[in-house]
Amino acid sequence: MDQMVVGPSLAEIRRLYLGKPDDFVKWSVAPKKKRPHAIEMPSMVHVGDEGLRAIYEHVMKVAEGVKEKKQDPGDPYKASAVYAARPQVQRIFMPNASPAAIAVALDATNSLCWDAGACRLRYAWTGGFIDGFPYWRGNGSSLATVVGTVKYTEAQSPFGAGKEVKFLGYTIKDKLPTFRYQIGAQTVTERFTALKEGTGFHRTFAVTPTPAAPMTLEFTAQDGVTLTSDKGTMKGTSLTLAPADAATFTLTFSLK
Ligand code: HEM
Repeated sequence: MDQMVVGPSLAEIRRLYLGKPDDFVKWSVAPKKKRPHAIEMPSMVHVGDEGLRAIYEHVMKVAEGVKEKKQDPGDPYKASAVYAARPQVQRIFMPNASPAAIAVALDATNSLCWDAGACRLRYAWTGGFIDGFPYWRGNGSSLATVVGTVKYTEAQSPFGAGKEVKFLGYTIKDKLPTFRYQIGAQTVTERFTALKEGTGFHRTFAVTPTPAAPMTLEFTAQDGVTLTSDKGTMKGTSLTLAPADAATFTLTFSLK
């Protein structure tokens, strides 16, 4: 009513079009690109002249006396409760990931980017979540930006690079996703939960069927990142698991 979200507020439309129903209909049938930060409005020609005139009358009536709110020209969703909710899963275009990126806010201070195209964790950061405005305001060609500091970047799938992968979707439990994918002959699930206040995350894997021989997973060595595992033997960033232990195991990524 009083502020721009996708299109201008009804109060602004009233200010621009009061007494000009013909211009209102003309715009609605053939809108143009006008506001630099808005998307292009699709034509409403299918509504028809009569419908558009009825909408015009309605807008002029409901917006009468409504004051336009002064607005920060940034992300219109920033103030919404949905945007601020934690945890949060957001399908959005992210830097350094395939177009099938999924941004996950584990809590207020720990976030990560999981790539459903490559079926792997790309990076994790601490601080905030994302700023989606560069993406939302455009036509999908821009990327969201990371809010905070990237602390861990995974160079390749821990199960090995160059293997055939297939994303099988994710389920949500306690508002957090469990990613499922196939890599080689195995189905893997991967789930993340936050450690306290920007200090990293737990990462639980489940592998089926369990491998015939011991299995080694390679994570990525990085300053300020310490890895521990509840099963197997960890040597630096290399984890070796007995076949039975691969069924489910949890790593802790402590980030400095
Ligand atoms: C019957 C339905 C609609 C009517 C009557 C309508 C009417 C209008 C009017 C009068 C304006 C202001 C034009 C100006 O500034 O001179 C406007 C702008 C806009 N509308 Fe709509 N609209 C409708 C549906 C939609 C829909 C479905 C969308 C988006 C999916 C949309 C998105 C926009 C945007 C983004 C602008 C700003 C465009 C720019 O400044 O470049 N509108 N609309």
